[in-house]
Amino acid sequence: MTPEDFTFVARLLKDQTGLVLTRDKAYLVENRLQSVVREHRLADLTELLAEVRGGNPAATTDLIDAMMSKDTGFFRDWKPFKHLAEVVLPNLRRARLAKRTFRILCAGCASGQEAYSVAMQIVEEAQHFTGWQVEIVGIDLSAAAIDAAGRGAYNQFEVQRGLPIRRLLRHFTKVGSGWTINENLRRMVSFRVWNLLEDMFPLGRFDVVLCRNVLIAFDQQTKIATLQKLARLLTDDGVLYVGVNESVTGVSGAFRVIASTLGIYAAQHEGVPPSHSMAAHL
Ligand SMILES: C[S@@+](CC[C@H](N)C(=O)[O-])C[C@H]1O[C@@H](n2cnc3c(N)ncnc32)[C@H](O)[C@@H]1O
Repeated sequence: MTPEDFTFVARLLKDQTGLVLTRDKAYLVENRLQSVVREHRLADLTELLAEVRGGNPAATTDLIDAMMSKDTGFFRDWKPFKHLAEVVLPNLRRARLAKRTFRILCAGCASGQEAYSVAMQIVEEAQHFTGWQVEIVGIDLSAAAIDAAGRGAYNQFEVQRGLPIRRLLRHFTKVGSGWTINENLRRMVSFRVWNLLEDMFPLGRFDVVLCRNVLIAFDQQTKIATLQKLARLLTDDGVLYVGVNESVTGVSGAFRVIASTLGIYAAQHEGVPPSHSMAAHL
């Protein structure tokens, strides 16, 4: 791959997705794009990049898709989910008692495991949420990932990543050699292709936003802009979860730390007094 080709791909990704590629990732670009070369029946990377430079939309989408890391799993890093179940959901139950409704956004949801993990926790507390309207929205730039998320069908390897057997048996149905999420969970979750670089206001407001292991790939400027947008989506007492290896401190003043080692932050809107701590001994 020539330095010009690398610069072209890196700029395309940065402009369209926020993803930052450093030069030491040239091998990764070459490796990941081989499948796109084959899929489009092209001779090599040079031909693929010529298609993209020429404005071929399918080649461009597939190139971008191939470069995004969509690594995920059920109950990934489990402690933030414990916090959600033990602290945030009970808080919402108290705070939204009059309206009996709340919304959760999984931004950068990949193939849906994170959104379904949240749905499982709510279903497991069903006795407290009878008559409630709970909506979970998963968004991702990748149409292929959103497609997979909507199907809710996972192979043995995928369900083995983070899903205890009792949850697998309770919330999934065995179909062939794989497992499909049960209809009651699927009904709680909707998935949409959405780019975090775009305006997110049309999605409405959310009481909880999970944007985990997404910002880590962005440059500082894109991180700041994205966090600003996420802050505006959150209700006054809303909670943001980023990845356990990500931090909002020093990047955005729109949040207050709840548990930095777990990537948990409270929305801090101007003129709104902080709600109670939500810190927990985890
Ligand atoms: C590493 S996965 C994380 C999945 C999940 N949140 C988790 O922590 O397990 C990152 C996801 O973010 C998505 N993503 C990256 N940039 C995005 C953007 N600009 N807009 C929407 N989704 C994006 C990728 O397509 C990918 O599915």
